[in-house]
Amino acid sequence: MCGIFGCYSKQPQNLIKQTLQGLKILEYRGYDSAGIAYRQQNQLKVIKAVGDISQLSHAVKTHPTTTICIGHTRWATNGAVKVENSHPHLSKDGTIAVVHNGIIENYNECCNKLKTLGIKLKTPVDTEVIPNILCYLCHNKHNIHDYLKGQYVFCAAEKHKDSLFLAKKGSLPLYIGRDNQQTIYITSDTLALPRTVNEIITMEDLDSCEITNTKIFFYNQGHPVIKTWQPFSQSYLPSNVNGFSTYMEKEINEIPDILKRITTSYQSVPEIINTKQELQQLIKKVKCIHLCACGTSYHAALILAYIIERDLHIRAIAHISSELTDHTLIHEPAIAIVISQSGETADTLAAMEILQKHEIPIISLCNVTTSTIAKRSQITFPLLCGPEIAVASTKVFCAAVLVGCFLFNHYDASTCNNFIKDATKTLKTARQHLPIPRDLPKQIFIIGKKINYFLALEAALKIKEVTYLHCEGYPANELKHGPLSMVDNATLAIVFGNDANNAIAEITARGGKVITLPSPPSDNPLLFINQIIPAQIFALDLALSLGYNPDKPRNLAKSVTVL
Ligand code: AGP
Repeated sequence: MCGIFGCYSKQPQNLIKQTLQGLKILEYRGYDSAGIAYRQQNQLKVIKAVGDISQLSHAVKTHPTTTICIGHTRWATNGAVKVENSHPHLSKDGTIAVVHNGIIENYNECCNKLKTLGIKLKTPVDTEVIPNILCYLCHNKHNIHDYLKGQYVFCAAEKHKDSLFLAKKGSLPLYIGRDNQQTIYITSDTLALPRTVNEIITMEDLDSCEITNTKIFFYNQGHPVIKTWQPFSQSYLPSNVNGFSTYMEKEINEIPDILKRITTSYQSVPEIINTKQELQQLIKKVKCIHLCACGTSYHAALILAYIIERDLHIRAIAHISSELTDHTLIHEPAIAIVISQSGETADTLAAMEILQKHEIPIISLCNVTTSTIAKRSQITFPLLCGPEIAVASTKVFCAAVLVGCFLFNHYDASTCNNFIKDATKTLKTARQHLPIPRDLPKQIFIIGKKINYFLALEAALKIKEVTYLHCEGYPANELKHGPLSMVDNATLAIVFGNDANNAIAEITARGGKVITLPSPPSDNPLLFINQIIPAQIFALDLALSLGYNPDKPRNLAKSVTVL
């Protein structure tokens, strides 16, 4: 979480505007507060604001030219959402400003060390130790990793020096880009790099570097290293909502086209067909498939585990990434499938480390194929959705299930075409089948059996995420084993499937309102994917009717890079 963007130029330019533009694209990484620092007449000017980048843009009244500007968009971990807790954080003497992503685990130890130097921190934010330790290290800044524990990336600007200092420990992303004008950009995600950037360097674990007006000096674990610029071309066009109310609505409406793209690519792109065959060879040798993911991607994993066991007769276990432990039994021979939209989810990366200890092949289904998860996988299958901007994942859920169906099942072109037609029809009729209620329910239960239960979990997550209403996905028959005690006449139950009549009777008998979404006539998992669309639209409409922005739900961020 949190996004870092910075610029360095030999000639003074309007780098503040560039930084704000970069931060706007990184806003998906956190949007509770933001700030910039730039160098002007040997002074560090810092501007911060609570809220998203538009609030920061209002707070930035002038755009003087400068050679250095660093910026940050925050998702608070420690320290409340307040101007003083937002980044950049300054050293006590005001000479160093730092923007940071990650967590400093030995924060208390660092505070004690700084206290002995007479430095008392002003905020409870772990970042504040970094500029102060950099001051203490003075000319030995490249030894910073010896002083800080945890996973972090940061960028520091100095009052007295025309240079930027960067450091990275762990897997959080940080890139350096440059263009023909020799302007240097620092970013948490290459998506935010301007189109003029044609070369990049990826910061690696334990790297640090100093960008000066003559050269960039790279170090790893405090020792000088040489890095080579890699060619880069920006393929991402900053998108807009394209006539839709929100990104969430736009992305739901993209589902049929994405399904078409996947269907075509997974049947015709030689590279994908080859890796698919490679996977099929691996599958022949295994006794168990472990699937790992978080949130929506975990719900896709549950569906895939179900169809692997049902159709391939191979033991398949879906794990919530953060619940996988060193004690989890990995029944070998096995392979692991990790699913992730962002490819940067810390919990899933940690699960991959556990799986790697078992030396089993790790295969990822990932939307961002340049991400850390993709890089650390033996094989990556692309989800082909393009950037997903809304925090609530919609199109990528459908893509992950469809790609899984292609990998673990065999589909002919006509089945797929019918399914895509069905998705287009579902989009048009979704609001008729699942209208938002006139009276706001106190709570919502979504129930179903088997695949419908997994869809119920996903639908409930979507509703909670964007409407802040209490909503639970439950197996239909389990209701009577406990949660039925909560059902009353202010309860809405949404039922997926035609096989939950007993549960429906139990709910209506207690005054609950029921809306049923019938199951498709076959138990083909492709058809089930379309069941989620009405629930996604329901969540979107309900959020909008309550006056919430479904693209940026409170307390959340798109890419969850903390454990
Ligand atoms: C979904 O709507 C959520 N925003 C969230 O649960 C998400 O699916 C989860 O954080 C996993 O992210 P990933 O797919 O990028 O790994």
